[in-house]
Amino acid sequence: MKPKIRNFSIIAHIDHGKTTLTDRFLELTKTVDSRQMRERYLDSHPIARQRGVTIKLAPVRMIYNCDNSSYIFNLIDTPGHIDFNYEVSRSLVACEGAVLLVDASQGIQAQTLANFRLAKKLDLNIIPVINKIDLDSAQPEKTAADLKVLGFDQQEIIFASAKTGKNIEQILKAVVNRFPPPSGDCQKPLRALVFDSFYHSHKGVVVYLKIVDGRLDFHQARQQGLKFLASGQKFEPQEIGYLAPGMKATDQLLAGEVGYLATGFKDAVLCQVGDTLSLNQAVEVKPLPGYQEPKPVVFFDFYPTDNKDFPELKDALEQLKLNDFALSFDPTGSPALGKGFHIGFLGVFHALITQERLEKDFDLSIIITSPSVEYQLVLKDGTVKRINNALQLPDKKQIKGIKEPWTKISIFTPEKYLGGVFKLCQDRRGKFVNQSYYGDFVNLEYQAPLIELIGGFYDDLKSVSSGFASLDYQIIGFRSFDSALLEVFINRQKIDALSLIIDREKGERIASQIAKKLKQVVPRQLFEVPIQVVLNGKIIARETIKAYRKDVTAKLYGGDQTRKDKLLKKQKAGKKRMKQVGQLTLPQEAFTVVLEAK
Ligand code: GTP
Repeated sequence: MKPKIRNFSIIAHIDHGKTTLTDRFLELTKTVDSRQMRERYLDSHPIARQRGVTIKLAPVRMIYNCDNSSYIFNLIDTPGHIDFNYEVSRSLVACEGAVLLVDASQGIQAQTLANFRLAKKLDLNIIPVINKIDLDSAQPEKTAADLKVLGFDQQEIIFASAKTGKNIEQILKAVVNRFPPPSGDCQKPLRALVFDSFYHSHKGVVVYLKIVDGRLDFHQARQQGLKFLASGQKFEPQEIGYLAPGMKATDQLLAGEVGYLATGFKDAVLCQVGDTLSLNQAVEVKPLPGYQEPKPVVFFDFYPTDNKDFPELKDALEQLKLNDFALSFDPTGSPALGKGFHIGFLGVFHALITQERLEKDFDLSIIITSPSVEYQLVLKDGTVKRINNALQLPDKKQIKGIKEPWTKISIFTPEKYLGGVFKLCQDRRGKFVNQSYYGDFVNLEYQAPLIELIGGFYDDLKSVSSGFASLDYQIIGFRSFDSALLEVFINRQKIDALSLIIDREKGERIASQIAKKLKQVVPRQLFEVPIQVVLNGKIIARETIKAYRKDVTAKLYGGDQTRKDKLLKKQKAGKKRMKQVGQLTLPQEAFTVVLEAK
């Protein structure tokens, strides 16, 4: 008999409670023994647990008994941070329904709207849930009124608290009653969509699958073999199963089911996310529509603090790429910093998380430099070239013009902060497009250059709105701008990792901010260190770091043994995230000063 299945996802703005709700589901369905239950059960990654932010999607199977029937629920938890939107769209493709979770104390936010639209576009059924009704600051009725603007009826909305467990059973029942079962046909030839993968030290590359048509039978697959249609790779499976939430092997997965397949591959290139899996057979089946490749929007250079760690960094990045498909990297080099990698990310947060993973999971010490976006160069000979780093600029004489990426931004803010938000957008070269009202909230639409968003824009938005405003953005194309090249010299040595392409009009302001910031973060030396910032070949900002007075250092290194030990210990700790450049050792902050310039 075909099992009764519901495949769904929980979508929400960051911190509205997806992971906590998932924990309640796991408990109520007895998927996880209450004695083993710990908070944020599915966030297996230590950084995710520590930061309280979901990074990777993780599918889990639960059995839910309702009205004398047994249902298989496949729940795919999704990340809420804007940089990981790509993961959300991937998981939604494997679902028939989505639970839209809104924090009753915050109401609809930018990501609520972005995820809602994504789910609508994929034609998913949506259950609106207002969460955190236990909070004193909860405004459930007001939030419900906002949801009605999105087209929901009052009767559809469930008021719940993932923390106290109130009305969670009602959500599970709604999943049974309001979401359709998957539509696949078990009699058709096998077609399964690969929606994620990771590397398992014994089983090789393991992919997560949704069986769209037919059945994946382990014994048949061992005899006949399987095939990935896009890569053409043929193989025999090592194991198939589902996540409950650990890996549980099984004999077969039927149309509509979500599970995993251990390929035994040592190399991830052989099975790409978005590919279609079928049996290795004469009759060709039509591949399923795959995914759009995620496009990196921000680029950073990663250098090992110790040059000899370059091969380790390469291995680590290759391993990370296995379950972070958005990561793209090429080797790069700098006379000042040695060998490193030029890496594309979905956002600054994505880059910082990657730096942290490299340090925690791979024991590497990494300096990140040169945040940049992708530019289009129009050359005098008529050709168009794309670059994503100021170091790739050809000679000025060859360049006719430079175009930079522009974004469409959507900001959600309570009306009373509107003035501050307008000013912020204006300062960041934003062009006003539209504003619309959702209760006391205003949805502002602007267009702005991407580079203006990658610095502290999000932090500034939070501070002008006392933390209430939220942001979503999409890239819409390239536009010409009046560009200038900014270069930095520390101790008369050019630090090429700090070279930047910027808007000429903001040149002086940014140059002076960078010089001041460097003065704060570059350690004092026994000699005077000049800092010079140059715009299109002309020095426009300078600062000087005064020398230590000799006797002070002498004193410092004199003293008793414990004091010396303390100093040594301090030096050792300080070795992390420092990079030797000529005579100086520069800390991480020196290489990302531009992130704070605006
Ligand atoms: P990301 O995975 O980072 O997108 O966050 P999330 O949406 O999964 O949110 P999470 O479950 O981590 O919850 C965010 C915070 O809200 C945590 O501190 C939770 O304890 C808290 N929280 C979640 N649900 C409730 C609720 O119903 N009531 C109250 N008072 N707090 C809640």
